[in-house]
This record gives sequence, C-alpha cells and structure tokens, in this order.
Amino acid sequence: LAEAPHVERVDPRRLHDLRRRVLRAGRADAVVADARDDDDGAARHYAGLLEGEVVACASLYPSAPREGGAAPAWQLRFMATDESVRGLGYGAAVLAAAEADLVELGAREVWANGRDSALGFYRRLGWRVLEGSAHLSAETQLPHHVIVKDLG
Ligand SMILES: CC(C)(COP(=O)(O)OP(=O)(O)OC[C@H]1O[C@@H](n2cnc3c(N)ncnc32)[C@H](O)[C@@H]1OP(=O)(O)O)[C@@H](O)C(=O)NCCC(=O)NCCS
Repeated sequence: LAEAPHVERVDPRRLHDLRRRVLRAGRADAVVADARDDDDGAARHYAGLLEGEVVACASLYPSAPREGGAAPAWQLRFMATDESVRGLGYGAAVLAAAEADLVELGAREVWANGRDSALGFYRRLGWRVLEGSAHLSAETQLPHHVIVKDLG
C-alpha cells in the first residue's frame, strides 16, 4: 500500500456487515452484535477504511483479566479483514490503533479467543498463546486458543 491504512473509531453498527461476512460465513441469522456493544460507550470499535468502505474491524470490551492475568484488562472480539484486502496491513493497523488506545487508557492486558487459523497473525503482533487453552468456540465450532498481550 502506498499509505498506511486509515483507521477510525466508529459506531458498532457500521461493523455488523463485515463481522457477518467474514466471521459468520454470511449467515443471515448469525448474531453479529455483543450485548456490551453500547455499554455506556465503554466498548470501543475500530474500522479500517478503504475509500470510505469498512474493510477491517476490531472491537474492545472492558473485561475481567484471564486467570492469573493483570487488571485492568480488555477483551478483543470481532477481528476481521475483508478477503479482498488480506495481507495488506489492514488487520495489523486496526489492532495497533486499538492497542494504542488501551495503553493510553492504562490497560494492563488485552486477551481474546483467537482462531487457530489466525494465531500466526497475532503472534507476529506480539501476542502469546496460552498453553492448555485449546477449545471450540460455542458460536462457530471452530478451534480456538486463548491469546494474550501484556500491555505493561
Ligand atoms: C486474521 C486476519 C484478521 C488478518 O488480517 P490481515 O489484514 O490480512 O492482516 P495483515 O495484512 O495486517 O497482516 C499482518 C501480518 O500478519 C501476517 N498474517 C496475516 N494473517 C496471518 C495468518 N493467518 N497466519 C500467519 N500470519 C498471518 C501477515 O502476513 C503480516 O505479516 P508481515 O507484517 O510480515 O507482512 C484476516 O486474515 C481475517 O480476517 N481472517 C478471517 C477471520 C479471522 O480469522 N479473524 C480472527 C478471528 S480470532
């Protein structure tokens, strides 16, 4: 890409279409919202934009730390990049913007249930995979691990 992907904080409703297409195989009946989406503005939602279109997304929710982890902690959910622009840095840019905000907010850790197929992406960006955390997601039945990034 000639320039860095453009990332903005957005209303979560702008992310539902991408969440559905990429993370729920386009299923019309899939749940693509989180009950915490509008949690008094505590949840934060990020879009990677290309010519005004949402091509990448990620959301953050204040959360208890995972077992043995440090508070204050946040959960990352709904990390996705449109298939047409994968590998171009949009996912990394969205996640970097989200993590930078967390550092500014004084967060100590961010965690997620990471799809096994995406663990390489997270590792490259400094996340670690918790040993013994393999599980199937209730929503997608896909294999996941718990992943964590310590924010200092
Ligand atoms: C995982 C995903 C979000 C990555 O988004 P992306 O925009 O393609 O990622 P980027 O282009 O920013 O990649 C950043 C780096 O990670 C690497 N990478 C990306 N996906 C990877 C993967 N699945 N495995 C290993 N490395 C990966 C890239 O090659 C790049 O490395 P580089 O900096 O050396 O070039 C995207 O592939 C996706 O939406 N997948 C389907 C949905 C999904 O699995 N979401 C995560 C749910 S937990």
